[in-house]
Amino acid sequence: MISSAELKKLYLDFFQERGHKLLPNASLIPEHDPSVLFTTAGMHPLVPFLLGEEHPLGKRLCGVQRCIRTGDIEEVGDAWHLSFFEMLGNWSLGDYFKDEAISMSFEFLTKALKIPAERFSVTCFAGDDDAPRDEESMRAWEKHGVAKNRIHLLPKHDNWWGPAGQTGPCGPDTEMFYHTKDVQEKGTDEFTMLSSAGEFCEIWNDVLMQYDKTADGRFEPLKQKNVDTGMGVERTVAVLNGADNAYECDTLKPILDKVISMAAKGTAETNRNARIITDHLRAAVMLLGDEKGVVPSNVDRGYVLRRFIRRSIRHARLIGITGKFCNEIAKAAIDVMGGPYPEVRNNSQRIFDELEKEEEKFSATLDNGTRLLERKLQLLEKSKQKVLDAQSAFDLFQSFGFPLEITVEMCKEKGFSVDEKGFDSLMKAHQELSRKGAEQKFKGGLADDSEETTKLHTATHLLNEALRRVVDPSIRQMGSNITKERLRFDFNYDKKLTDEQVKKVEDWVNDAIKAEADVSFEIMSIDDAKRLGAQGVFEARYEKAVKVYTVAKGDKVYSREVCGGPHVKNTRELKHFRITKQEAVSAGVRRIKAVVG
Ligand code: ALA
Repeated sequence: MISSAELKKLYLDFFQERGHKLLPNASLIPEHDPSVLFTTAGMHPLVPFLLGEEHPLGKRLCGVQRCIRTGDIEEVGDAWHLSFFEMLGNWSLGDYFKDEAISMSFEFLTKALKIPAERFSVTCFAGDDDAPRDEESMRAWEKHGVAKNRIHLLPKHDNWWGPAGQTGPCGPDTEMFYHTKDVQEKGTDEFTMLSSAGEFCEIWNDVLMQYDKTADGRFEPLKQKNVDTGMGVERTVAVLNGADNAYECDTLKPILDKVISMAAKGTAETNRNARIITDHLRAAVMLLGDEKGVVPSNVDRGYVLRRFIRRSIRHARLIGITGKFCNEIAKAAIDVMGGPYPEVRNNSQRIFDELEKEEEKFSATLDNGTRLLERKLQLLEKSKQKVLDAQSAFDLFQSFGFPLEITVEMCKEKGFSVDEKGFDSLMKAHQELSRKGAEQKFKGGLADDSEETTKLHTATHLLNEALRRVVDPSIRQMGSNITKERLRFDFNYDKKLTDEQVKKVEDWVNDAIKAEADVSFEIMSIDDAKRLGAQGVFEARYEKAVKVYTVAKGDKVYSREVCGGPHVKNTRELKHFRITKQEAVSAGVRRIKAVVG
């Protein structure tokens, strides 16, 4: 039996031995990227570097990344789909390309993991108007002895990955499948059928990034060709241990066992419901426990979290779990996830408190909402209609807290559908009203919190520059997080700063504050920003024009950085800057916490 910790170690050792530097496992909440809710793949934090920005750790990288994907939430409960999962990956930023990537993948699978050839098939991109058939990848697999009838050509729908947002780096991919049953496909049609049935499990994907998708939908060749790979940890551990579903992995099985032990015996569909609860509550624990801790709400990330918890509660009712149960399951999840992610252990009280609150709220309305929906469906039945109207679905959301999926699912179980488009329009109108309300409040002067964070945001720019000037010119920002109490800044450096360095960094920032430097911004092209030596193109991921903030007193420029803002107008507002803590995040990455005022 292999554990997920063992798989991760094997993988990361293998790629580090081949010149890859280890990346930190980033938060589920992406740094500096308002265009997406969650980190959905290992490549996500790397977008600027895939577009050509120089990465401080070099051109070969590897790591394990926690991810959340909700696009397939309806599929969760089957053998392989998960909302939260861990993804191993190796990256080439303009270094090796198809041939070497495929050689390393093949070697890792067959030598390190000892997967026998008869359990292995691959797919490559078949070609279309945007890009030609991926002959190079096909030849690379053949060279390693993968039989021609095990190499399947599929269209963009299957064998193309990215961009992660609307625009950005993407390309054809080649996917690796493990046969969980002792079957051999006869051709591509049978391969597709068996993989849809879950008998062939995709365990790894090598994306061969050659294109930049533009805002008008064109695929322009990327200047720098990259490799972006992703191996699902839970799936791979499960198949290597001979299982036919991801829940046999050691980071899911104990949670599933706990759910099943609480379920009433003999209920039909126990397994699927129990899997949904397992997946969703593990995801909820990871979100609630994240250092940037999300809490349930009706918008954005908080709403996704709320959906995970509320869906779990409903599925629990279906298998006869009636009382409060979320915290029992959360305990099991913290037990298995607390090793690799100590923050879920450190934040366990927050996890328990929030789950309990949410459970109380939703349990109080679930029964009444269910009764109301059932009455509505009876009426529809009588009038021979099969679609629940948008307003009813929206009322269930507003008055009873039913996320749309719950209504859809309950309707589906009884043979009805829901006007989902209509629901979305009502939801948008509702959110627009709330947004206007919030802006009104902001204008009313209730913005104290954000004044604090604005100051810390400007201080972060100064700290970023100070580290380069005082400590090492190759220092780059690796991450940042700001609360109203403090700033947190991660950067590439492998030593603890000496007391003298800390003092010098503080002095440099305080000099900039004393100089009463002005903070201004200009919008310019990415090229111009680079020409001006602006730091941190993190924010430029999906844009052609960027906002560059400059802190300067006359001709003396203290800092110039690409950033979305907001910032103070003059550094005097920061008053005084002080470093409160420094620590190591991972090999080669350090963290500083600091305050102003
Ligand atoms: N980014 C690629 C994926 O998520 C590797 O499959």
